[in-house]
Amino acid sequence: MFGRGHMSGVERDNKRIRQYAEHFTPTDLAFESLDKAPQLSQPGEIVLDPFAGDFTLLCCVIWRKLQNGVNHQQALQEIRSGEWHIDNCLIGIERLYGRGEVRVLQGDQIPKHMKADGLKACFTHNDRLLENHVACDSDRYDFSFGKSIIFGQNLIEILAPPNINQ
Ligand SMILES: C[S@@+](CC[C@H](N)C(=O)[O-])C[C@H]1O[C@@H](n2cnc3c(N)ncnc32)[C@H](O)[C@@H]1O
Repeated sequence: MFGRGHMSGVERDNKRIRQYAEHFTPTDLAFESLDKAPQLSQPGEIVLDPFAGDFTLLCCVIWRKLQNGVNHQQALQEIRSGEWHIDNCLIGIERLYGRGEVRVLQGDQIPKHMKADGLKACFTHNDRLLENHVACDSDRYDFSFGKSIIFGQNLIEILAPPNINQ
């Protein structure tokens, strides 16, 4: 999970790094931060990184969840990401799911239930739609991930907006 990723395979010129603040948290610092907020790594806790970069923080969450007795499949279900750059998403997806055939779905290829304002792309890994990870403008995307959003023990439910664009 940590073997590849950090900076791997992506050309980032200084302009892009400055424009998008592409400065990633080192792994040891990510663990340190998580250990100051242990609740985040508990079973059942959903963790979203809306500016996910190369997914270092999310990989560390998975690691801690495993240590807390969550199985790998469940841990993967308990994280979410948004990230503007598709190349960063691809690194993160490989770190989480391993090597495989990844497809980038854009425009009309995006499944109807996933469409939302600010969404840029979805991904499949070995033909399975990864509903928890999107390329998006996080200042606009509602992080519905094609599902209803439920807050406060089902007292409030926000339905994913129907097919805003396209
Ligand atoms: C400071 S980095 C943080 C990365 C990661 N959370 C970490 O701690 O290592 C910010 C990330 O947000 C992405 N980003 C910048 N603007 C964005 C936007 N409007 N929507 C989604 N992602 C954005 C950048 O591409 C970059 O990868």
